Amino acid sequence: MNYRHIYHAGNFADVLKHAVLARLIRYAQNKDKAFRVLDTHAGTGIYDLSSEEAQKTGEWRDGIGRLMEADLPAPVAELLAPYLDAVRELNPSGDIKRYPGSPKLARMLFRPQDRLSAMELHPEDAGRLQRLFEGDYQVRATELDGWLALGAHLPPKEKRGIVLVDPPFEEEGEYDRLVRGFATGYRRFPGGTYCLWYPIKKGAPPKSFHEALQALQIPKMLCAELTVKSDREETGLSGSGLIIVNPPFTLKAELHLMLPVLKTVLTQDRFASHRAFWLTDESVHQDED
Ligand SMILES: C[S@@+](CC[C@H](N)C(=O)[O-])C[C@H]1O[C@@H](n2cnc3c(N)ncnc32)[C@H](O)[C@@H]1O
Repeated sequence: MNYRHIYHAGNFADVLKHAVLARLIRYAQNKDKAFRVLDTHAGTGIYDLSSEEAQKTGEWRDGIGRLMEADLPAPVAELLAPYLDAVRELNPSGDIKRYPGSPKLARMLFRPQDRLSAMELHPEDAGRLQRLFEGDYQVRATELDGWLALGAHLPPKEKRGIVLVDPPFEEEGEYDRLVRGFATGYRRFPGGTYCLWYPIKKGAPPKSFHEALQALQIPKMLCAELTVKSDREETGLSGSGLIIVNPPFTLKAELHLMLPVLKTVLTQDRFASHRAFWLTDESVHQDED
């Protein structure tokens, strides 16, 4: 396990993922009833953007750095407010030095009844995560293989939940693993909202990944993608995507407002693009077995 998220925290891919995660949480809060966020690949929770590691890549500067300085149209500023207010809250001086990873962002948006189960397998990062939430009765941070959690921790006892699956994609076969992991989780908890992250880069197979998801015959899979540059470079991300299963009915329209603005703010060359579309819609029916 070589991947450490500190090198990438707050980059353009985090921006899309965390903006959407915040929308999912706010939507879940339209009902009083408690829900649980299951974050299977949680990272450390808070990232020091002034650290040597974060400064080395500087990726956050072209992500959250740009977004915080952008003059956003009012409707988009409103949609991004839960996310950006959390970033502001961590940085009261105005300089962006601390960045909330997915578990910290979720926790910052919670009401007293909402709960988080966060899994992280890297022992050092899991230790940090556990220290961050020590004594917090709303959070359970566990050093555990997140793929196992999709079997063992679903359904949540609240019976309402958002499942974020955000693997590092450092190993071969991670797209297939994501499809299989999601299928396992969905079988146990078909009513959950799932948010699956994947990279877009040279040689990566989003098309066959999409087809493998469609082959599951699961309804209501929404896809959102944002690329910020051409994929001509051999290494690194040119963009990222999210599959949101059982999304709020409002999310597609929200994405159509947010994505063009995010593209304009985060673009790195003229090949930047975005799209949001149904991978499967309500008409898909699973075969009875
Ligand atoms: C992309 S980062 C997570 C970022 C985090 N979700 C966020 O948005 O702030 C992926 C994380 O998964 C961890 N990881 C790798 N394999 C894992 C596994 N099998 N189970 C749980 N965590 C794993 C890595 O150590 C890394 O911290």
